[in-house]
Amino acid sequence: MDQKVRVTFGTKLGIIAATAGSAVGLGNIWRFPSQTAQDGGAIFVFVYLACVAFFGMPIVLAEFILGRAGKANSAGTYRNLAPGKKFHYFGYFAIIAAFLIMGFYMVVSGWTMEYLALSITGELGRTQDFAALFDQLRNSPGTQIFWMVVFMISTAGIVAFGVKKGIELASKLMMPLLLLVMIILCIRAVTLPGAGEGLTYLFAPNPENARSAGARILTDALGQSFFSLSVGMGCLMTYASYFGKDVRLAKTAGTMATLDTSVALLSGVMIFPAAFALTTDPGSMVETLKTGGPGLVFIAIPQLLQSLPAAQLWSIFFFLLLVLASLTSTISLLEVITAFVHEEVRVTLPKPIRLRKSSTENTVLHQEYRIARPFAVTVISAGVIFLGVLCSYSLGADTSLVIFGLNFFDFLDYITAKLMMPIGGIFISLFAGWYLDKKILAAELSNAGTIPLRFFKTYRFILRFVAPVGIAVVLVCGLIG
Ligand code: TRP
Repeated sequence: MDQKVRVTFGTKLGIIAATAGSAVGLGNIWRFPSQTAQDGGAIFVFVYLACVAFFGMPIVLAEFILGRAGKANSAGTYRNLAPGKKFHYFGYFAIIAAFLIMGFYMVVSGWTMEYLALSITGELGRTQDFAALFDQLRNSPGTQIFWMVVFMISTAGIVAFGVKKGIELASKLMMPLLLLVMIILCIRAVTLPGAGEGLTYLFAPNPENARSAGARILTDALGQSFFSLSVGMGCLMTYASYFGKDVRLAKTAGTMATLDTSVALLSGVMIFPAAFALTTDPGSMVETLKTGGPGLVFIAIPQLLQSLPAAQLWSIFFFLLLVLASLTSTISLLEVITAFVHEEVRVTLPKPIRLRKSSTENTVLHQEYRIARPFAVTVISAGVIFLGVLCSYSLGADTSLVIFGLNFFDFLDYITAKLMMPIGGIFISLFAGWYLDKKILAAELSNAGTIPLRFFKTYRFILRFVAPVGIAVVLVCGLIG
């Protein structure tokens, strides 16, 4: 690696903002409520919380350890930690996963921008039928593509500025605002008449509600926990490669996972009371939720918002919240690929080229080039937009894009969250638990012996056995169940 001193995040707050910023996103505010709804409420929520605690968090910490020890993009990290071995292929797997995730994530991010625009122009307020509005958007590839491109450009703009001036600064500005807006909206939702019904649905396990989902709850909850924590595919590893020596990894992992899980629960607290308060028939609401999950945020919430005083202001707030949450996540996804392209890919010229600038000064182009950040970002963005275009068309306008019975959009969501990320998680825990030198593990956890090492044996046991075996069992049961 020719980069001697790697850039680091500037402050501890910056690190929390960036890692939590990556984790908190559409996964929490759009995907979590929609999965909860499809799987019938509280039981799903409890399985999800267990997955976060037993599988997600230990692997978040493992990614931090590997990233800071390996000090490179996800492929380079494996190469640095296991020279001469083939483990870096796993880094490539992660890069591909990040790319596929961005393909559908960007489309949903585009929806959030469209709804923000509709809120600002006041058009949302004039709408009578919110389900029809959302349907219309899903059937208009042009509009989706337009907003997706706008969102991609915003993401690329931030990442092009690099780690400190781009990612860290943007996250530090956006995350506190996001939490504030979220808390205000939660208070609004739980004080609505009829809100209790929604809270019961979210927190009181009811086998009746969850019956039709069956064992699928397992893979859904596992996939959701990994997706929400951004864990299992080298994203946090890449961020951790920018951590300084004095960052307490276990504490940071705990804070980040707690923030992420709190935001997911808060968004449940915001959305379900709203959905139940909105309906005149709470009994049939459970069934409606099962089929209408993905539209929840874009149908139920706008409708609810319109019934409040100062509706326009609330809806601008809400969609701004979604845009911000999403942006701090898309920059992290883009950074995984950008760091890889910038650090690993070399352009080789057959021989040095001499450019004559003036008669006195010659410039020589060297044989090997790194790809500069802005250029890397541009090329990757073009690729993501291509995937996004396919996704947008697959949602309604073009039904030929069907793979294994899923449209292209759902297919990407399925293979990444439900297969690639859990498999990635198994791999990371095995690598950190079995292959990585115990001394490196201990040194990273204790910051080279400067802070006490607690629960080391337990943690290593989780990495070696509990997490890999547990994830494999959950994955297989869910898939065949
Ligand atoms: N965790 C983010 C969310 O909940 C999405 C995300 C960002 C992500 N980076 C990731 C998902 C890396 C998987 C892997 O919206």
